[in-house]
Amino acid sequence: MGDFHADWLRLRAPADIRARAADLPLLLCPYLPKGQMLRVLDLGCGTGSNLRALAPVLGGEQAWLCLDADVELLDRLADETQAWAQESGFDWDASDQRVTGAQPHPTCRPHLTCTLAPRRFDLACDLAELPIEGIGLVTASALLDLVSETWLAGLVSQCAKVRVPILIALTYDGRVAFEPASSLDREVIDAVNRHQGRDKGFGPALGPGANGRLAILAAAQGYWVEVRMSDWRIRRSERELQAALIRGWSRAACEEASASDQAGIAHWEAVRLAAVERGCSRIIVGHRDLLAIPRRA
Ligand SMILES: C[S@@+](CC[C@H](N)C(=O)[O-])C[C@H]1O[C@@H](n2cnc3c(N)ncnc32)[C@H](O)[C@@H]1O
Repeated sequence: MGDFHADWLRLRAPADIRARAADLPLLLCPYLPKGQMLRVLDLGCGTGSNLRALAPVLGGEQAWLCLDADVELLDRLADETQAWAQESGFDWDASDQRVTGAQPHPTCRPHLTCTLAPRRFDLACDLAELPIEGIGLVTASALLDLVSETWLAGLVSQCAKVRVPILIALTYDGRVAFEPASSLDREVIDAVNRHQGRDKGFGPALGPGANGRLAILAAAQGYWVEVRMSDWRIRRSERELQAALIRGWSRAACEEASASDQAGIAHWEAVRLAAVERGCSRIIVGHRDLLAIPRRA
């Protein structure tokens, strides 16, 4: 098992769905192949939440190649997509791993037929082998802050060579706001953001700077780039998600802090968890979505 447990991906999914910039997939639609199969490459797909968010908006015929290094997450992709398809009124064909149904967004391509193919693939080690030929969209969600500058430059350069659009959702951007606020919030989140720069398998991670670097690298390769805020707005009632975040941030901040500061962080955690328990805590976590379209030659 990797660092991302399926329970965590399921816990964050409602906040992800609410946060996504709704207009970026629609801006992409005119650049998708008309009346042809759209081949999509989903990087770090986890259990498939990016597919479930995007496929119904893009509509038409789609074939998703879903890449992840974690086999346990890949093993859940079909079941979670089946459950979602059934809840959302789509049909699910288990033999072809295919979702079909009427497309709810009339602005994009009509009727949805979407197959999915999970594949174990280590993006950190095998970027040069990325199966990008014939792909009509490269996408990812909640992945980019893990990667390094070198890795990201390599990805953008591969995408630019085949002139493929890029849609990257939900990249953490370093902003966190708590309600009620406390005097230690800034210090803890600064420590968390330093921790974000640690190597997550791709070399020194870009962390909160990743989306900005992608915008610059893509523009330099001749892409037209659109960026939107896609902040998590976590509700008072989402206690489990808030508690998981607070515990994770406390752990990360302690790893960055001196022993004397760790007691303060532990106190911050206890006060924050108590506010969550009382149902009076809200948290905003800054994220960005980015769409990059290759300019016409
Ligand atoms: C935060 S999760 C996001 C998953 C999914 N995209 C979502 O939005 O729910 C990050 C994902 O990146 C995957 N990942 C991390 N390092 C990877 C690597 N070197 N190669 C492939 N996948 C990787 C993890 O296994 C995990 O599924």
